[in-house]
Amino acid sequence: MTTSFGLCLFLLTTSFISAHTNDTIFTSQVLRDNHNDTLISSTGAFALGFFSPGSSKNRYVGIWYNNIQDKTVVWVANRDDPLTDRSGVLLVIQPGRLLLLNNATNATIWSANISSTVHAPVARLLDSGNLVVVDANDETNILWQSFDYPTDTFLPGMKIGKNFVSGHQVYLSSAKSNDDPETGVFTYQIDPSGYPQSVIKDGAIVRCKSGPWNGLRFSGSHNLVKNIIFTFGLVINKDQVYYHYTLLNDSVYMRFKLSESGEGQRWLWSYQTQNWLLYHTIPTDNCDIYGVCGAYGVCNPKTSPYCTCLNKFEPYYPSRWDADDFSNGCVRRTPLNCQEGDGFLKYSGVKLPDTQHSWSNASMSLEECRVTCSKNCSCTAYASLNISNGENGCLLWFGELVNMREISPGQDIYIRMAKSEIEVGSRKREILIVTLSVVIATVLLGLSLKLLYSLKSDHQLQERNYATGGLRRNYHCHQSREDMDLPMLDLSSIIKATDNFSVENKLGEGGFGPVYKGLLEDGGAIAVKRLSRTSHQGVEEFKNEVICIAKLQHRNLVKLLGYCIHSEEMMLVYEYLTNKSLDLILFDPTKSILLDWPRRFNIINGIARGLMYLHQDSRLRVIHRDLKTSNILLDSDMNPKISDFGLARTFGGNETGASTDRVVGTYGYMSPEYAGDGLFSVKSDVFSFGVIVLEIVSGKRNRRFCYLEEELNFLGYAWMLNREERSLELIEPCLTNSCNDVLRSIHVALLCVQQHPDDRPTMSSVVQMLSNHAVLLPQPKHPGFFIQREMPEANWSTASCTNRSTTSVLQAR
Ligand SMILES: *[C@@H]1O[C@H](CO)[C@@H](O)[C@H](O)[C@H]1NC(C)=O
Ligand SMILES: *[C@@H]1O[C@H](CO)[C@@H](O)[C@H](O)[C@H]1NC(C)=O
Ligand SMILES: *[C@@H]1O[C@H](CO)[C@@H](O)[C@H](O)[C@H]1NC(C)=O
Ligand SMILES: *[C@@H]1O[C@H](CO)[C@@H](O)[C@H](O)[C@H]1NC(C)=O
Ligand SMILES: *[C@@H]1O[C@H](CO)[C@@H](O)[C@H](O)[C@H]1NC(C)=O
Ligand SMILES: *[C@@H]1O[C@H](CO)[C@@H](O)[C@H](O)[C@H]1NC(C)=O
Ligand SMILES: *[C@@H]1O[C@H](CO)[C@@H](O)[C@H](O)[C@H]1NC(C)=O
Ligand SMILES: *[C@@H]1O[C@H](CO)[C@@H](O)[C@H](O)[C@H]1NC(C)=O
Ligand SMILES: *[C@@H]1O[C@H](CO)[C@@H](O)[C@H](O)[C@H]1NC(C)=O
Ligand SMILES: *[C@@H]1O[C@H](CO)[C@@H](O)[C@H](O)[C@H]1NC(C)=O
Ligand SMILES: *[C@@H]1O[C@H](CO)[C@@H](O)[C@H](O)[C@H]1NC(C)=O
Ligand SMILES: *[C@@H]1O[C@H](CO)[C@@H](O)[C@H](O)[C@H]1NC(C)=O
Repeated sequence: MTTSFGLCLFLLTTSFISAHTNDTIFTSQVLRDNHNDTLISSTGAFALGFFSPGSSKNRYVGIWYNNIQDKTVVWVANRDDPLTDRSGVLLVIQPGRLLLLNNATNATIWSANISSTVHAPVARLLDSGNLVVVDANDETNILWQSFDYPTDTFLPGMKIGKNFVSGHQVYLSSAKSNDDPETGVFTYQIDPSGYPQSVIKDGAIVRCKSGPWNGLRFSGSHNLVKNIIFTFGLVINKDQVYYHYTLLNDSVYMRFKLSESGEGQRWLWSYQTQNWLLYHTIPTDNCDIYGVCGAYGVCNPKTSPYCTCLNKFEPYYPSRWDADDFSNGCVRRTPLNCQEGDGFLKYSGVKLPDTQHSWSNASMSLEECRVTCSKNCSCTAYASLNISNGENGCLLWFGELVNMREISPGQDIYIRMAKSEIEVGSRKREILIVTLSVVIATVLLGLSLKLLYSLKSDHQLQERNYATGGLRRNYHCHQSREDMDLPMLDLSSIIKATDNFSVENKLGEGGFGPVYKGLLEDGGAIAVKRLSRTSHQGVEEFKNEVICIAKLQHRNLVKLLGYCIHSEEMMLVYEYLTNKSLDLILFDPTKSILLDWPRRFNIINGIARGLMYLHQDSRLRVIHRDLKTSNILLDSDMNPKISDFGLARTFGGNETGASTDRVVGTYGYMSPEYAGDGLFSVKSDVFSFGVIVLEIVSGKRNRRFCYLEEELNFLGYAWMLNREERSLELIEPCLTNSCNDVLRSIHVALLCVQQHPDDRPTMSSVVQMLSNHAVLLPQPKHPGFFIQREMPEANWSTASCTNRSTTSVLQAR
């Protein structure tokens, strides 16, 4: 582009800006490279001038932080048209154009496109780092601004998005390299199609999508949370949509840069260390890569493989899926049938799928949303649009759901499913997996969530929370206080019964506090569980929990007789079981003789039935999480009763994380995915059950066991024996004359302790396998192991018998 303005004359008559003096270029002035002229914003935060990036000799006009030694350029005017020498000049001319000229050739290197005409345009570098061209007579009249044409850096105050009136879109595009600011292939933009989400693209290919804006954040931006450094938001109205952020302290420097390799990086300047600290990046992990698990696949970086199908979905190409090719995604295991009337299943703790093919209405309720979705057969899912203040608005999806991941904090989505999949009782192989973090977040969200769920309409009560299992609080215990006959006992009678919680009456330490034996005045014996005060449970919620647990009634569960709340004290009163806990008998050489095989088999079957009830027959769907022999109590007839159930959901919000001093669950009984990654599901209970069965059969404690020569732990040893058809060696000598059911029990136990949760049977099939000899048992795969060093507090003697802190790998011989 050659200029036609008769510039030479013009230039000769203009005055010059001396270096470091002013923030404004008037029409009578020029900014010259060969004089090292710069503009400095009013408080000196930013500078504008000519520079050469990295090792390049080319000259560019750019904006950088003025107070930072290491030149950090945030904007480049002529990124695609470098000057090769220092003859560049920047000037503003009437009727309002900002020009970069090569004074040697008169060529226009770069210009700002300004449509309106004014008499006295001036260019000014603002303290935000924004270069604006304004009318000197009306400075609010911004004719052009660099914030509308960003390069690779998103500064506070910028609006990344789209103006629907002008059609102008503001987005970032990466630089080629450190030495070359030329427009690269990656872009970061707010995609206004469907419902807005932020997108990183590699050319035309979508690399990451953040998930839709949910009123608080992008659904998938787990690392973007409320903080003390900056606020952020998305503005959506009929004229425009834009994403912005604002620093809360002006002396803080923060910038978001789309790197040369297409990574979104938020940087924070550290005055202490005088360098930029990486605050967060997009993508954070593999699971942020767009659609990595295909349709209806869910990504979780902590599992192996990281993709799973949503519950009640199965891989489209199972063989490819098994070979870690997830691109074909998953399909419903029962196809939809819109005519017969589909329903919706709720999935929780997820990043909402891609909203490219979506529809939204901000004023609808969730129920109206459901109705709208159910009316249109091509609507595949719905969710709340805006969760910033309760659940408001409606978001509908059409077509396949892609780009989901497990995330904390996550959201709820209701996915269209065939009627038969929703009806209770049709559950065949349920995989309830949730990350522990979701659970913790849920517990912390506590009250508010509970409130929300309780506000839901009755219709949704049928939609069960399949994704998160028992710990989420949206099970529906709509028990009214009146029809509950659980007595509230007063403290004084409990003090009396337990002799003021005397040490002599202490029976042991349960998961959530000590347990005392008590004798009521009528002579009846009770067991009192005194809950530790550290649980931050409100009294009302506690009561509600108790009422819920009281509804769990099964002959293989310990019966709750009553409860007591007195100021800070919360207690649960259970039936007292004369023969105490299984471990006290099983591992006692003199007492264990009393446990002959029929008794042991009865105990195994009883635990299995009790657990099956907890997992699927009760209304609450409870995952025990701390199943072990000391939680199996025995009545006078040696019938097993599971204790400590149900409370796992209530207490221990802080007792579940690996960084706390008490881990819910007991090493030796915990499945590898739970102990290692905090994932729990009904299948982690199944794992614990398998360990218990092996202990019952062998009379040996899993944890204390060591089979030194082989470097095998207990489970590995049992598995090896089974493979070699030597399982009889595992059996306690006194049982050896009853081997048929014993061997079957060992086999079932080994199926229960398999490494992969999916391989383990559900409790209902366990019950079947144990009782029905016609059921053919598959060969168990190798049992679960995990790495010792991941468990700092655990004296994990079963992981490896040697002191080597390496993974104990099972060598099949
Ligand atoms: C910049 O220069 C103009 C005229 O040369 C002057 O009026 C203005 O005050 C100066 N501004 C600053 C911030 O020095
Ligand atoms: C501009 O800066 C360069 C390098 O810092 C220096 O060598 C040169 O003399 C300066 N030119 C003027 C006119 O100040
Ligand atoms: C532009 O170049 C001419 C000579 O080619 C010189 O006289 C003039 O001062 C230059 N203008 C600027 C702003 O450097
Ligand atoms: C630039 O333009 C002026 C007048 O239009 C002319 O006198 C001068 O020779 C030109 N310089 C070059 C290098 O073309
Ligand atoms: C100005 O407009 C032209 C054509 O519309 C476009 O090619 C050019 O990139 C624009 N320049 C800037 C700095 O936006
Ligand atoms: C979400 O809801 C809040 C409170 O109701 C409202 O202030 C905000 O504007 C909404 N956000 C969007 C994107 O609709
Ligand atoms: C802003 O940050 C600076 C530097 O960290 C600090 O000295 C100052 O106290 C902060 N101001 C406020 C209002 O927080
Ligand atoms: C959004 O929902 C409200 C409430 O149901 C309704 O009145 C309104 O017409 C809907 N808007 C659109 C665009 O469908
Ligand atoms: C269902 O929704 C799709 C997408 O919005 C639309 O094209 C179609 O007309 C709708 N069908 C009915 C029956 O409303
Ligand atoms: C029970 O013991 C506590 C201290 O352990 C004591 O403060 C309290 O007075 C005792 N209560 C009764 C009724 O003896
Ligand atoms: C179990 O309880 C019964 C009845 O109380 C008692 O006779 C039996 O000795 C107990 N068994 C053990 C092993 O304690
Ligand atoms: C967890 O611990 C923190 C601090 O120790 C406390 O503020 C918080 O309320 C606890 N949460 C629960 C659910 O116990």
